[in-house]
Amino acid sequence: MKARAYVNFALIKYWGKKNEKLRLPFQASLSFTIDKLFTDTKVTVNKKLIKDKITINGISDERLNKRVIQHLNLIRSKYNIKDYVEVTSVNNVPTSAGLASSASSFAALTLAATKAFNLNLSKEELSRLSRYASGSASRSIFGNFAIWDIGDDKTSIARPIDINWPEFKIIVLMIDKSKKPASSTDAMKESVENKLLYDEWVKQSKIDLDKMLIALNNKDIKSVGEIAEKNANHMHDLIESTGITYKTKESLKAIDKIHELRTKGVLAYYTMDAGPNIKIITIDSEVNKIVDYFNEYETIVCSKGKDAHIVLN
Ligand code: DP6
Repeated sequence: MKARAYVNFALIKYWGKKNEKLRLPFQASLSFTIDKLFTDTKVTVNKKLIKDKITINGISDERLNKRVIQHLNLIRSKYNIKDYVEVTSVNNVPTSAGLASSASSFAALTLAATKAFNLNLSKEELSRLSRYASGSASRSIFGNFAIWDIGDDKTSIARPIDINWPEFKIIVLMIDKSKKPASSTDAMKESVENKLLYDEWVKQSKIDLDKMLIALNNKDIKSVGEIAEKNANHMHDLIESTGITYKTKESLKAIDKIHELRTKGVLAYYTMDAGPNIKIITIDSEVNKIVDYFNEYETIVCSKGKDAHIVLN
């Protein structure tokens, strides 16, 4: 069974867990699932296997495989399944470059594996299962805009929000495809330990989320961009207080250029995740101006992606 799930970028970030094992977040997050970056994962039950056989992007990597097996074990134990599987996963995303590849990967794995085991789960259950593997994966079950709520094990799942805004775009600036210095899971844990700053983050992100929902409903790109940028900067300040930084010289240079663009009247705002790449938040009318201005970088112009789904062939 082959499934496809798309990458999502958070406009209001998830950063920090109140329960590590269940991956329950301290605050709700809001994301946009895009169309251009995705993961295709094929899962086939093979009764002859005595352990899972995993290939990710054409190779078998011990560390990546471990996380996949852990997730398969969780699904098997939850639904009392004994079979081992063959997993072949292909990312059209540079792995670990802060392009949220764990989100699309684990959402695709969850959908493909549960279908291969003949389980027909609801999107809510798929979102919950994906969350156990990687928090942000809970949101990649849904296309377009989605909110992942705080809640408990049962209620902390993503849900789609009904906003139809085809002009909304995210442009990925490929600054660096190399691996990031620290995993988001580790950096998150250290951030939570910085209690004073962390509490402030939780408080502010709730305010940011409420404002973001109003701005999205109004299709007000200026407010959406400003709120998202402020929220991302807050997260990165928190991360940098632990001694970890994901921003490189190139990221800072690109950020300066976005400020420059804005002084020229272009509606361009940025967000950044656990990696050096920059995502520019904008609308259709501005796309050509932005892409031209950043002609020294590879750019990927993204529209809304679909819900995770089964692909035939
Ligand atoms: C910066 O979902 O990768 O992209 O739950 O530990 O696997 P784990 O973390 P992960 O964190 C993503 C954090 C972020 C912001 C976001 O996507 O909300």
